[in-house]
Amino acid sequence: MTDRYCVIGNPIAHSKSPRIHGQYAAELGEDIQYEQCLAPLDGFAATVARLVSEGYKGANVTVPFKLEAARLATRLTARAQAAGAVNTLVFDGDGIVGDNTDGVGLVADIVRNAGVSLTDKRVLLLGAGGAARGALLPLLDAGPRQIVIANRTLATAEALVAEFADHAARLAVSGFADVEGPFDVIINATSASLDAAVPPVPASVFGPDTLALDMMYGNKPTVFMDFAAGHGAAVRDGLGMLVEQAAEAFALWRGKRPGTAHVLASMRQSQ
Ligand code: ATR
Repeated sequence: MTDRYCVIGNPIAHSKSPRIHGQYAAELGEDIQYEQCLAPLDGFAATVARLVSEGYKGANVTVPFKLEAARLATRLTARAQAAGAVNTLVFDGDGIVGDNTDGVGLVADIVRNAGVSLTDKRVLLLGAGGAARGALLPLLDAGPRQIVIANRTLATAEALVAEFADHAARLAVSGFADVEGPFDVIINATSASLDAAVPPVPASVFGPDTLALDMMYGNKPTVFMDFAAGHGAAVRDGLGMLVEQAAEAFALWRGKRPGTAHVLASMRQSQ
């Protein structure tokens, strides 16, 4: 019987996940069905219960349900626990496992797709909300010398760092205006791009070899990417991260890791 999966969100119509997982399944010859699942805003738990009862094997979770998914899961992986959010559920017949593949997807995109090592590097993480939290442990695991977390609300960044006390020696907090660059890698994990706003960091954060990545993506570069490119940085959007987090979820469900390069290339073409 064909194993069924879906991505749960609200809204969900524009999700690229069915296409990405469809390509992975075709490449690896896996007989799966992957669809979109619109959950009512007050109906996430009921939707998951229905999927489990209908025999689905797992689901991805997107906006606005990632925090609720972490609460609903009966077991959390270490990285989901650190993130406080879940983007991948596994229905293994013995409960609901919650994982978070967003952060490893981000690191894979930087290291493998962009070819930029994070080992011993200085990283600037802009933002201290859910997206930044999800990225922090996988970023630390990649071995940077320091991660500076800069946020509009300093107290939120301080609270985030306090949760990662084991890594305090490599973490620092800053406001946007007083960040001291340059950085090797800059990650925009704020939602500012949605408002066409740029976190007001000084131009000195960019050096000649800086990679600047915005977790957002769209059919044109974000304002942050334009700002970074204008100061000489190499830029990336969040499409690679999307493709990589999906590959990690696919591997979790199917025990086989798909290649990502051709999927990323085809998504870019149709962007
Ligand atoms: P997400 O899940 O996308 O991370 P979130 O948890 O609401 O969403 O966090 C949004 C992040 O973007 C926060 O770091 C927020 O800064 P504050 O903590 O000061 O609210 C940041 N953010 C949102 N809009 C922004 C803007 N216009 N300029 C700078 N930072 C912004």
